[in-house]
Amino acid sequence: MWVTNLKIVGVVLGVLSLYTLIANKIPQVQSEVPQALALGANVTPEQLVAAGEKVFNGIGGCTTCHGLGTRAPNLLTDEKGTGPIGARCGRRETGKTCKQYLFESLDNPTAYVVPGYQPIMPVMTKQLSPEQVWAVIAFLESQGGTVDVTASDIPAPSPGALTPGASPGSPGSGPPGFAAGSTDPKAIIQAAGCLACHKLDGQGQMIAPDLTHVGSRRDAESIRKKILDPASSVAKGYEKLAGIMPKTFGSMMNASQLEALVQYLAAHK
Ligand code: HEC
Ligand code: HEC
Repeated sequence: MWVTNLKIVGVVLGVLSLYTLIANKIPQVQSEVPQALALGANVTPEQLVAAGEKVFNGIGGCTTCHGLGTRAPNLLTDEKGTGPIGARCGRRETGKTCKQYLFESLDNPTAYVVPGYQPIMPVMTKQLSPEQVWAVIAFLESQGGTVDVTASDIPAPSPGALTPGASPGSPGSGPPGFAAGSTDPKAIIQAAGCLACHKLDGQGQMIAPDLTHVGSRRDAESIRKKILDPASSVAKGYEKLAGIMPKTFGSMMNASQLEALVQYLAAHK
């Protein structure tokens, strides 16, 4: 009997140390770490637009959904007779200027959901720096409208934050503020916004697969891979939605947060 017990203890210890090892060793996705944008007080509208175009086509991940036709509204071309986004942004909500509407679209996408579309757009102000957000707004305004974003829209960095032009934090360390550094899986899920698309234990949206029993379909390794690199595999029956899951989680969370989330989901059998 004691032999069996010893074996179990051994296995448990082995598994635990393995996970600790993985948690410390796990490589973070480095490719999508946002570049710090240096937009000084004298930035011109042209510079903002050029920077915003890069964000739109690159790190912002906007083209995953926008520009493919049915998944999200066209932004750079006409949308159902209302013109490109710079032309229609000021008419979406009464009392909101184009600039206010575009900021809201990125900061609180469900405040106004364009009729005919699902509310799947992630909160972009969580994933992009204020500089990147305002540059992308300038770029969108330039599509058929007037660029009125200026340096004064970009909030000054809080004391202790990166000064504009400074190099970004070491890749993969994750912003220290993400989920306030918590390793509570529920806080991580909340901060990452997984439930904007997924259901889990009866909460959340039904756009993406219900994660309540994800542990019976995928092991920890597979879940970890999916979070770090969503393109690595596609859930069965959801092929049409491939590419929607944000690719930025790997650089948002630190290694222990990622591991806490992975183990929590893997235990959902
Ligand atoms: C996961 C898919 C997805 C991604 C990624 C995404 N969007 Fe969207 N976006 C949508 C959908 C769907 C809508 C329409 C529903 C709504 O209003 O929420 C939308 C709406 C918008 C609107 C309002 C359009 C209008 O006609 O009023 C703007 C502006 C916008 N997105 C900008 C962006 C920008 C900029 C990015 C990248 C930084 C981005 N989106 C990334 C899916 C996405
Ligand atoms: C913008 C919507 C969106 C967000 C936010 C999102 N996902 Fe997903 N996720 C999807 C979609 C759509 C799929 C199915 C298509 C695919 O596999 O790429 C998916 C698939 C998955 C799968 C595979 C499910 C299966 O049944 O095999 C896992 C695991 C997963 N997501 C975890 C997460 C976690 C954890 C988070 C938060 C850190 C998250 N997702 C955030 C849209 C999203």
